[in-house]
Amino acid sequence: MDTQQQLDEFQKRIDNGETIEPKDWMPERYRKQLIRMMSQHAHSEIVGMLPEGNWITRAPSLKRKMVLLAKVQDEAGHGLYLYSATETLGAERRELVEDYLYGNAKYSSIFNYPTLTYADICVIGWLVDGAAIVNQTMLAKSSYGPYARANLRICKEESFHKKQGYEMLAKMADGTPEQQRMAQDAVNRWWWPTLMMFGPHDSDSPNSAELIKWAVKTKTNDELRQHFVDRMVMEAEAIGISLPDPNLKYNEETGHWDFGDIPWDEFWSVVKGDGPMNRERMRARRKAYEDGEWVREAAMEYARKKKLREGKAS
Ligand code: 3HC
Repeated sequence: MDTQQQLDEFQKRIDNGETIEPKDWMPERYRKQLIRMMSQHAHSEIVGMLPEGNWITRAPSLKRKMVLLAKVQDEAGHGLYLYSATETLGAERRELVEDYLYGNAKYSSIFNYPTLTYADICVIGWLVDGAAIVNQTMLAKSSYGPYARANLRICKEESFHKKQGYEMLAKMADGTPEQQRMAQDAVNRWWWPTLMMFGPHDSDSPNSAELIKWAVKTKTNDELRQHFVDRMVMEAEAIGISLPDPNLKYNEETGHWDFGDIPWDEFWSVVKGDGPMNRERMRARRKAYEDGEWVREAAMEYARKKKLREGKAS
């Protein structure tokens, strides 16, 4: 059981802006919250490869194919950094992975939507990675050292992801009428699901207060969402794309953009597994995991034998 004195000393460290490292004492609840959040972040990166991977063989040019290949490979790396960072908390990677494949662990709702045209790839880069940057820039200052450092590295690659998406979308928005229609259609389909990425409103967010108290998150879901909207309104305007929200209006008093109600029924239905692509994503991930079992067994057997040999030699 955590003693009150330990908890008070820990809180003092957090309030002083200190970074918590794996070998430091931490409340059991802090550890559990981090394992939950970091592993779900990692799952999101891995599942996030599927919607984009769908277009690697259909990219419109060799350059676009190379850029998309590089981006999808980056996402795989983000997932592995985050699983490694989660393992510093004593979590077992196999358990983490099997918890989302066969259990109740979550991954980001945004990856349960289909990529219907190549414009979706542009919009994912611009909006989804743009939202991820807003969130992960904040997490790069998280109180837990390995998580902060993983996000610092992720953010460097995310800015390339966002820039390449925005550049492609600007080209389409300035292209033929058909390309302009594709670009606008993709933005119309991805705008609201992207706002949902930041999580429920603060008043409906059971984890936020604790995560803020321990400086795992330093901004709330609604603060990050508002920051994102404020930025995206200007970027959309700059390339002649409209955002599908008739209630978007600049509020002189607050200095922010007011926006319409988020369809939370859709959000919770997707989170609960009833989104357009949840079943397909899980089928693909379970198949990849099960097909790769022999590789994991061979690697474990090799490591076991190597340890035995080294034991005999010494
Ligand atoms: N999708 C799925 N589940 C979500 C969600 C979403 N967009 N937003 C919230 N939830 C879940 C939470 O996981 C929580 O369920 P749990 O307690 O069973 O885990 C519940 O809804 C209540 O939400 P809370 O606001 O209380 O939860 P958090 O305080 O953890 O906030 C979060 C949710 C904003 C996603 C936060 O966990 C977070 O910032 N996580 C780290 C970043 C991350 O995971 N990003 C996902 C996208 S990764 C990505 O975009 C990759 C890029 O390269 C494209």
